[in-house]
Amino acid sequence: MNILVTGGAGFIGSHIATYHLEKGDNVFVVDNLSTGSIKNIEPLLDNPAFTFHEADILVWDQLKSVISRMDRIYHMAAIVGVKKVLKDPQAVMAINIAATERVFRAVAEVRPQAQVTIASSSEVYGFNTNEGFSETDDIVLRSGARLRWAYAVTKLADEFLAYSFMYQSGIKVVIARFFNTVGPRQVGTYGMVVPTFIHQAVNNLPVTVYGDGLQTRSFCDVRDTVVALDLLNSTPAANGEIVNVGNNEEISILDLARLIVKRAGSSSPITFLSYKEAYGMEMDDQTHRRPILDKLQSLTGFKTKWSLYQTIDDLIALERKRNRP
Ligand SMILES: NC(=O)c1ccc[n+]([C@@H]2O[C@H](COP(=O)([O-])OP(=O)(O)OC[C@H]3O[C@@H](n4cnc5c(N)ncnc54)[C@H](O)[C@@H]3O)[C@@H](O)[C@H]2O)c1
Repeated sequence: MNILVTGGAGFIGSHIATYHLEKGDNVFVVDNLSTGSIKNIEPLLDNPAFTFHEADILVWDQLKSVISRMDRIYHMAAIVGVKKVLKDPQAVMAINIAATERVFRAVAEVRPQAQVTIASSSEVYGFNTNEGFSETDDIVLRSGARLRWAYAVTKLADEFLAYSFMYQSGIKVVIARFFNTVGPRQVGTYGMVVPTFIHQAVNNLPVTVYGDGLQTRSFCDVRDTVVALDLLNSTPAANGEIVNVGNNEEISILDLARLIVKRAGSSSPITFLSYKEAYGMEMDDQTHRRPILDKLQSLTGFKTKWSLYQTIDDLIALERKRNRP
């Protein structure tokens, strides 16, 4: 099978690329390396079944010719991370929507039979106060919401772009709503909590919890995420569906900090920062973000394999390896 991964030098995209190469597929990656890194795909570069295009999807002149040869497209390219969103909301609005639209347009024109997956996000549930989110729950965005929600708006727009291209052009799309995804190659630079805590704990630095730490999240290992995505793409009934992808184990951010400190055998103190101190402005945060996975499970039978403990231990070992001279 020929597979295109946009944003394939990023965190999730590079795992998708690796997984499909291991399955014997031909994998093509396009990435402008804006937040992704060549290091994430370095081990793949010598593989004859792997092709890397360093390009911006918004202007890439080979988009159509590459797409015309693809069986499957994972569209992962986007601007991600709360810090990045607050720093450059204009780019988030422009890139996250326009890149998706350009990919869909090319698929509709030259390869309507390709199977497409887009990366939506649990952020779209917005201010919904449910303790667990299912795909039919209401999307709650307040009018006058702060800029932090720009990202959620783009992901929602991408979902509607998908619907419009399915309806008008008959293309096949799975809309994956990712909940917090974690694992090797994720970086803390743009506000991701797990790599930030791992770095702090392994280096015996203060572990910085934002707010009171009682907000809960559910973390899914990326090595589970890629399996779920492959299953969804192999399930015709998943076409045209929005599907939560994640792990439904829940943990508060304060307990996450304690767990990482303990597993790292660290002397790090746990400190608290207000959102204003952390982000330079007031921030709304969701108190819970747990996926209800019934739809994913009934469509594909998918079950997560990686526990948070295993993921954390792996990440601690990788951080220690990085620190060695
Ligand atoms: N990581 C999570 O927990 C999470 C949660 C919800 C949704 N998502 C979504 O999953 C996808 C992948 O996220 P990630 O965590 O791997 O982020 P990432 O930043 O590691 O990956 C995004 C990749 O897209 C590339 N990119 C950005 N703009 C581009 C452009 N115009 N042209 C070409 N490449 C471009 C970046 O260089 C990067 O490699 C994103 O769409 C994100 O919104 C991620």
